Amino acid sequence: MHYTLSDFDTIIDRRETYSMKWQKYQGKDILPLWVADTEFKCADEILTAIKQRTDHGLLGYHLPARYEPANEAVCRWLSKQHGWDIQPEWIVWTPGVVPAFNVACQAYCQPGDKVIVQTPNYPPLLAAPGINNLQRVDIPTIVENDRWTIDLNALEEAAKDPACKIFIVCNPGNPAGTVFTQQELSEIARICEQNKVLLISDEIHCDLVLDEQAKHLPAGALPELQNSSVTLMAASKTFNVAGLGTSFAIIPDARLRASFSKAMMGIMPWVTILGLVATETAFTQCDQWYDTLLQYLRKNRQFLFEEINQIDGFNMLLPQATFLAWIDASKLGVDLPQAYVEAKGVGPSPGADFGDKNFIRINFGCPKSYLEQAVQRLKR
Ligand SMILES: Cc1ncc(COP(=O)(O)O)c(C=O)c1O
Repeated sequence: MHYTLSDFDTIIDRRETYSMKWQKYQGKDILPLWVADTEFKCADEILTAIKQRTDHGLLGYHLPARYEPANEAVCRWLSKQHGWDIQPEWIVWTPGVVPAFNVACQAYCQPGDKVIVQTPNYPPLLAAPGINNLQRVDIPTIVENDRWTIDLNALEEAAKDPACKIFIVCNPGNPAGTVFTQQELSEIARICEQNKVLLISDEIHCDLVLDEQAKHLPAGALPELQNSSVTLMAASKTFNVAGLGTSFAIIPDARLRASFSKAMMGIMPWVTILGLVATETAFTQCDQWYDTLLQYLRKNRQFLFEEINQIDGFNMLLPQATFLAWIDASKLGVDLPQAYVEAKGVGPSPGADFGDKNFIRINFGCPKSYLEQAVQRLKR
């Protein structure tokens, strides 16, 4: 198959599919632009591979660690995309990145320990310390040169507390879309190393870097973090297969990997065979679909950026990665920007869920016509 930008213009009705995104406003004239999946049809290569697998007719047990094609596909992808050459045995398959960072809380902390997170952040990441009877320590996000980034001084101060055992970072960031530079990541690594804090790095958005000057650096690829990090990734966001519940942790250090696997035992199911097939195919046969997706998302990002910043009361910075726009609505002068925007017929994610009620988050991983409609509604 050869894909073109116009393939991504196609509108597919998801209203009767139990889609989380589309159910929220069912029966209302509100365009849902919230949950972080995209409105794009999966690459045909993925759909064909899934069909071939189901045509076989048996869907019994399998061992993800022994499913060599998927493990090799991850190695290929990480080498090609991120210049990171990993060993297949470093991979631990997990049925989602959210369960994976919760497992990390269990594996590396004792009740009462502290977990560092950056705010604002993805709501399940903010919730993880509490779910695991741990205390959360928040590090602010600051703006430098029109780009959101982490307050490294606050991180350095927080990490000094010996009760802080792990830092769950989100890179590229959700909601702000920042890709940490080599310098920032080295500084984070230094702080973690000096204070014996493990870095749990949620990199689910790492293949969605839109800024052509930016480069994603996986945490575990930094020599100084090789033995003190867990890197969490998936094909799910990029290739729109999140419903298949398949992701993976890369844990080069054998001791950390053993603790992680032990914490999973008896609780975490193995990933599904269809998730493995989809991941394998995404990482080996879909390069051209992926290149086209990035081109499409870059155009959507630019369109939204220009349009949103022309509407009174809204302001956004250009996200370096993800298909998410973090929009400051504080100048609207309303108490609840989310309600104001919904009343106009647009359904973003409420900033309050991420830690700032003055913001909204718009998902631009959709046909451009949806964004045109959203902008038109916001202007009226
Ligand atoms: C930063 C981040 N981590 C994790 C997830 C979800 O991961 P999973 O569905 O693999 O549990 C999301 C989904 O929006 C996300 O944005």
